[in-house]
Amino acid sequence: MQNNQQHQHLNIVDSLLMQMFGRPKGILGRLGGFILARTKRDFTQWVINLLEVQPDDKVLEVGFGPGVGIEILAATVSRGYIAGVDYSKEMVKQARVRNAKAIETGLVALQYGSVEKLPFADDTFDKALAINSMQVWSDAMAGLLEIWRVMDVGGKIALGFTSHSGQSSTGLSEMLTAAGFTETHLVETDQGFCVLATK
Ligand SMILES: C[S@@+](CC[C@H](N)C(=O)[O-])C[C@H]1O[C@@H](n2cnc3c(N)ncnc32)[C@H](O)[C@@H]1O
Repeated sequence: MQNNQQHQHLNIVDSLLMQMFGRPKGILGRLGGFILARTKRDFTQWVINLLEVQPDDKVLEVGFGPGVGIEILAATVSRGYIAGVDYSKEMVKQARVRNAKAIETGLVALQYGSVEKLPFADDTFDKALAINSMQVWSDAMAGLLEIWRVMDVGGKIALGFTSHSGQSSTGLSEMLTAAGFTETHLVETDQGFCVLATK
């Protein structure tokens, strides 16, 4: 009986966390977006530095959340462009507000959608990233295969995870290799880790 109650309690906590951060929705999602924007900037900057983004790169961010990563990317990319896909309407709204100017100039385009079915042609992007997102995709392998498809040959991917993301680094390189990526390597910091790879 006690085990059952503990199990129910964990289910409720999981569901609240999912609404707040996993696929932000409603009032909790709105709050989650504000928290993410305030707390993840340094880590996001660290992952983007590892990607070595260039001014003429075409960059894709999956699961951009409140759009802080998009904002950081827009400070470097000037001749290329930045596309984002996120499976939360609330996050698309917050990220569009945060990046309104860059959207207006055509540098940035943010869409609601899922990593498993990206609305882009094959071989489009030079760089791709996802931060604290892959662990909540319903099919991580399908997502990685789809990112591989839309990336150009020689393009670089970065998957970043903070220490409390719940994602283990074990097996990630193998997943990327199975999706077709090469040269996978893991970089760690006190805040989390990032796996990099090349198409
Ligand atoms: C924990 S938040 C991280 C947001 C942001 N990258 C950050 O670090 O602050 C996870 C994000 O992944 C998005 N997401 C979840 N499942 C997704 C999917 N299947 N396709 C695209 N985005 C997804 C969520 O909507 C959410 O914005």
